Amino acid sequence: MNAPPDQYGVVGHPVAHSWSPFIHGLFARQTGESLVYRLHDVRPEDFRSYALDFFSRGGRGLNVTVPHKVAAAGLANVLTPRAERARAVNTLALQRDNRLLGDNTDGAGLVHDLRDNLSVSLSNRRVLIVGAGGATRGVVAPLLVLRPAALVVANRTADRARAFAADFADLGAIQGCGFEDIGSDAYDVVINATSASLSGELPAIPASVIHSETVCYDMAYSRSETPFLKWARERGCARTLQGWGMLVEQAAESFHLWRGVRPKTAPVLDALRERAALNAS
Ligand code: ATR
Repeated sequence: MNAPPDQYGVVGHPVAHSWSPFIHGLFARQTGESLVYRLHDVRPEDFRSYALDFFSRGGRGLNVTVPHKVAAAGLANVLTPRAERARAVNTLALQRDNRLLGDNTDGAGLVHDLRDNLSVSLSNRRVLIVGAGGATRGVVAPLLVLRPAALVVANRTADRARAFAADFADLGAIQGCGFEDIGSDAYDVVINATSASLSGELPAIPASVIHSETVCYDMAYSRSETPFLKWARERGCARTLQGWGMLVEQAAESFHLWRGVRPKTAPVLDALRERAALNAS
């Protein structure tokens, strides 16, 4: 008799909208791996006991999304260096020694998408990240590895951005400021890492950050253009890019950690875009 498939899933609240089961289902089919991947909608107060129960029943891995990423870092027995830096975990994996490993694949996902899928170079470029919350925390270290000429983290709450930059200052040229202190110089790449797009809002950054060569990336993704990308396009930027690729790339990193096999992401990204367009119509 065949062994039952290994159990994986994504835990969040809410989580019904997640594309992760679709993505991991395609990865499993493509690589011939035998697994099931389910949604787990869990309230913050139940996260710890739910996740421990999942693993004690033989579950092998969980993706962790909003609002549990910080709690997941506290749950893991051991953190990868990048999760330790981010102080947030988006991937839990049960190791052979039964210890729970916490990793953060968000930054690697963003870097893969920018560099490999979209051919956007960050080295020696002026890069602006808008937002200083959990999303930014997951990606700053891998972005600094690419050696941008400047990495400015601008946040609505200026103190949060300054504290953030101080935390990462040992890794490279990073500064933190409020929106009012961004100045009038243009940037080569502007990344929106705020949660503003989720509520249909636009971060109040000055239009001077955009010039005709600026590449604008929204870590959020939606079936229609996000308010930030609409704003940037109307100001004449070179390219507007949504975070679909980051979503698939961070998932591929998780899959690799769990199964030791790296799936091809291009066909999955195509299928996801097609599916999202179909669902929108
Ligand atoms: P998460 O962990 O999901 O990123 P978070 O830590 O609350 O959530 O961070 C959300 C980020 O989006 C913050 O940088 C927040 O700015 P503040 O620190 O000033 O709150 C930013 N944000 C959310 N809504 C915004 C808006 N309408 N305009 C500008 N920034 C916004």
